[in-house]
Amino acid sequence: MMTKRKILITCALPYANGPIHLGHMLEHIEADIYARFQKMYGHDCIFICADDTHGTPIMIGAQKAGLTPEDYIAKWHQDHTQDFKNFNINFDHYGSTHSLENKNLCELFYARMKEAGHIHKKPVDQLYCENDKMFLPDRFVKGGCPKCASPDQYGDSCDVCGATYEPTELKNPGCSICGTKPVLKTGQNIFFKLNHFKSYLQEWVPKHTSSDISKKAMEWFDEDLRDLDISRGAPYFGFEIPGEDQKYFYVWVDAPMGYISTTEQFLKKQNRNRDEYWAPDSKAEIYHFVGKDIVRFHTVFWPAFLKSAGFKSPDKVHVHGHVMVNGEKMSKSKGTFISASIYTKHLNPEYLRYYYATKLNATVDDLDLNFNDFTNRINSDLVGKIVNLASRGAQMLNKQFQSQASICDADGIKLLENLKLASSKIAEYYDQREYVKATTLIRELAESTNKYFDEKAPWKTAAVNPEETQKVLTTTINAFRILTIFLKPIMPKLASNVSQLFNEAEYQWADAAKLIENQKINDYIHLASRIDPVNIQAMIDEQKKIFEASAPVVQKPAIKTATPSEIEFADFEKIDLRIGHIIEAEEIKEADKLLRLKVDIGNGVTKQIIAGIKTAYSAEKILGRKVLICANLKPRKMKFGISEGMVLAAGDGGSDLFILSADEGAKTGSKVK
Ligand code: 2FM
Ligand code: ZN
Repeated sequence: MMTKRKILITCALPYANGPIHLGHMLEHIEADIYARFQKMYGHDCIFICADDTHGTPIMIGAQKAGLTPEDYIAKWHQDHTQDFKNFNINFDHYGSTHSLENKNLCELFYARMKEAGHIHKKPVDQLYCENDKMFLPDRFVKGGCPKCASPDQYGDSCDVCGATYEPTELKNPGCSICGTKPVLKTGQNIFFKLNHFKSYLQEWVPKHTSSDISKKAMEWFDEDLRDLDISRGAPYFGFEIPGEDQKYFYVWVDAPMGYISTTEQFLKKQNRNRDEYWAPDSKAEIYHFVGKDIVRFHTVFWPAFLKSAGFKSPDKVHVHGHVMVNGEKMSKSKGTFISASIYTKHLNPEYLRYYYATKLNATVDDLDLNFNDFTNRINSDLVGKIVNLASRGAQMLNKQFQSQASICDADGIKLLENLKLASSKIAEYYDQREYVKATTLIRELAESTNKYFDEKAPWKTAAVNPEETQKVLTTTINAFRILTIFLKPIMPKLASNVSQLFNEAEYQWADAAKLIENQKINDYIHLASRIDPVNIQAMIDEQKKIFEASAPVVQKPAIKTATPSEIEFADFEKIDLRIGHIIEAEEIKEADKLLRLKVDIGNGVTKQIIAGIKTAYSAEKILGRKVLICANLKPRKMKFGISEGMVLAAGDGGSDLFILSADEGAKTGSKVK
């Protein structure tokens, strides 16, 4: 007898200020496959998520849209729910952090933290915009990096040198809403003493994350953990902190509590209680699926909050990498920042589920959505190898044998035994989130079935040996049925259509052990079509158009940087601009934006340049290019080594970054004048 597990699965809560895109979808598909598998295997599993509705960007988004924050988040809630439905993401409940349950939880956590002595107040200097009448969060102020002086950097970290700092350290800061210079204002803020949990977390992290994640996370404990500012001043869209005047919980305090309040909302409908999952002694298993960018929130802050307030912590935080498109970061201007709703207009959502599954494993590696590979895997593997079995086998049985399945032939029985034997292996792969391995094995089983079908060649034998032919077709449809059951966590809609072909209820995992013999099947109804690449291009074009149409409305932060004053030609001549040839390029894994380049600048001289261009260029893409470089920049010591020059690029950063190069024929080392 299988022991029934009680499992709670969550995805990170998407912000309620923008559409769901294919990057979000990776996580939701990964978690949905996991949840669907556990459910069909017979475990007691619930899958929940919610919108993350508070904080400054949402407050400002609502203002720009001319809506109240409540109406604004309601609109996004509807939008997100529809997208998830279209992709068959089967949440048991999709809530919102703007709920009474969540407010009560924040207050409860805060009271318990206070009671246990983990809360204290201290004055902090913060940047305040007198024009907008608000304290500016890190991402709402830009200025010069205090370490390397690069202009136009956010208040928390520098895109160029990777330094992290306080917004008050920025040179020439400007408010990114109105552009004016903010002032320093002192406020009393409320802090959570994270360091009280340092030794608890040091033990907790390696037990609850994969080894690659915990290796990285353990570096955070080299120093004492800084107090966490859990308060924000008005105006702020969020929950007020009880007993304080106009202070609000920081969004990252109430957001993860959404995991608990959403569970609670779901259980309430059945007169059940959140303690079933979240009481400290609960035996339920809790799994959070999150992206690598928010690991710290989930492996440091969140478990500390839970511990401080006496709740159960998650059993594992499962971390995935980011989605790249055709080897590059998703880019709005290139049309590869694809929203779920635009995808749905052009392509079948189940195909994305299948493709992601063929590339998902339990590591944090980024996943490349390569459209050629995508087309190939759908057309030749899914349609060509798997669905084709049904379209050939079932249709022949329909037409030539009045839809009557007989029994399986001797070779067929062996084939099917082999398929059934794979059931426990595939189940294990799903449970370990090794979907690459699950789909590879399913594809191999489909290949062996195709081989069987081709060797038996029923289209040739039908006239001479109908009885044997009917057996071969019976085997073929049974093999297809089993493969469909194995694929059901990934392709629930396909599985549902196939169960109708055989007059069956929705498949459970154990159904793979049954055989369809001596019974009639229904008429084959077309199950899947090949992808036409034209549709992919149409999707990208439409997405690009949407970006272009909205670009003028999306106001660029109006940072008032003075236009540089005139210079003498002699000043210009001081800059050694040359054509450099990139002869080595590698990603700096630990940094989001940096590539390490070796650049030939002529006369046998090479320089190491650490360039902040990874957001727009992969190492592979830039290797071998001839680019413009500044060769006499004073070498700078950066976190990841010395940088001895600069690659010239235009644009505002992120994916809006374009490397400059010379026309055909320019020689390495030649001077730019
Ligand atoms: O990074 C994000 O998109 C956040 N909205 C995720 C929140 S996850 C949880 F903690 F609420
Ligand atoms: Zn301002």
